[in-house]
Amino acid sequence: MAESTTPARASWSGKLAFVLAAAASAVGLGSMWRFPYLAAKYGGGTFLFVYLVFVFTIGIALLLLETALGRHTRQSAIGAFKAFGKKYAFIGIFTSAVPFIIVPYYCVIGGWVTKYLVGYVTDGSAALADGGAFFSNFIADGPQSIVFMLIFMALTYLTVAIGVNKGIEKANLVMMPLLIVMAAAVAIYALSMPGAMDGLAFYLLPDLSAISPELIISALGQTFFTLSLAMGIMVTYGSYLDKSTKLTSSVVQIAGTTFGVSLLAGMMIIPATFAALGSGQAVAENSGPSLMFIILPQVFQNMGPAASVIGCVFFILVLFAALTSSISLVETCTSIIQDATGCFRRRALIYTIIFTTVMGIIVNLGYSSLAFIQPLGEGSSVLDLLDFISNSVMMPIAALMTCIWVGWIVKPKVIIDEVKVSAKFGAEKAWTVFIKYIAPVVLVVILVAYVAQTMGLFSM
Ligand code: PHE
Repeated sequence: MAESTTPARASWSGKLAFVLAAAASAVGLGSMWRFPYLAAKYGGGTFLFVYLVFVFTIGIALLLLETALGRHTRQSAIGAFKAFGKKYAFIGIFTSAVPFIIVPYYCVIGGWVTKYLVGYVTDGSAALADGGAFFSNFIADGPQSIVFMLIFMALTYLTVAIGVNKGIEKANLVMMPLLIVMAAAVAIYALSMPGAMDGLAFYLLPDLSAISPELIISALGQTFFTLSLAMGIMVTYGSYLDKSTKLTSSVVQIAGTTFGVSLLAGMMIIPATFAALGSGQAVAENSGPSLMFIILPQVFQNMGPAASVIGCVFFILVLFAALTSSISLVETCTSIIQDATGCFRRRALIYTIIFTTVMGIIVNLGYSSLAFIQPLGEGSSVLDLLDFISNSVMMPIAALMTCIWVGWIVKPKVIIDEVKVSAKFGAEKAWTVFIKYIAPVVLVVILVAYVAQTMGLFSM
């Protein structure tokens, strides 16, 4: 096998290193940018509630499954499935396609964050807090938005190429707690604004009658996206684990951190939006990928003379969180190409760079010269399409296949035994029932209900 010809497999120095690396991959734009706008779109507390339920059921169950599968097989995604028979490689291949769809648009949003950081330094806080014109002018300026995407991509690729990821993760040890503290401070401030308490109620209190198939599939996709699941990353991370690391407590810590950051990000943005617009419906109508970039500068601006400094520091921290995630995405793409073609890592990285750059440019132009392409209906963009295909279609299907495969083909015992190597597994029975029956049934129901709703909603 290829294994014997490659140098010894990299490994984490211990449990903390693993949890931190996984959390670094997980906490990123998904929590800071994507979660708040989805929650705003889908009724605030209702979305928060469904997301909470998913993170601590299917999220944790799959996190455990993927890391244990990786540790058991000592392979990244495609190899891990293939280890049980060549005919199962397709699950790994399908799963591995997901990061290739995500990287291009992830880097576009990374470019937006970079632009805002620079904007706070060069233009000052008032220019950015103009209610959205700054943002729309920027994304409608194709060359400019491409340049900022390329800067973000360059930071990502250079880190992967030089192989200093470990250094970045160390820095993250400082940056992530800082981000959390800062987000908490901004959230508290935002909550002190007039009208914000009604907004807080909107954000925290679920209205169960507002649950729709679309909301559920979005919360499900968001769970996979934020936890970096259903795309092979956690299998790879698990493959670097030694047998003494407790998987059960690790996955709870990873999921807890990610959920906590998302919760805070929503608190910074949603009550303030609600206070500004006055009703949940208005919030929903105005939410979208631009939400964070329009609302936060206004919150900062209200904070007074320090606004530029606050905005600058904040976007540095978000940039960092985004970089650690994009690095893990690009790492995954690279190792997938490497495993699949047997080429050298350098060459695999070059292929990844070419593909994602070209795609990224197309995504950028989706807001300017290609703006006529509105694949998901009036006003939608190429970015929306890639986000939709990966999060709402491919990841749920990948998760479904994985559950059926483990539950019925290779059998849960393989995973359970692996988990038990390092820890007691109190939830063994519940986990088995969940992976074998509950998760597949729920996933099928959600997918079918969603497709039905979508077909009635818009024609593509
Ligand atoms: N989890 C990351 C985020 O929330 C995104 C990501 C997805 C990173 C998949 C790696 C793999 O931003």
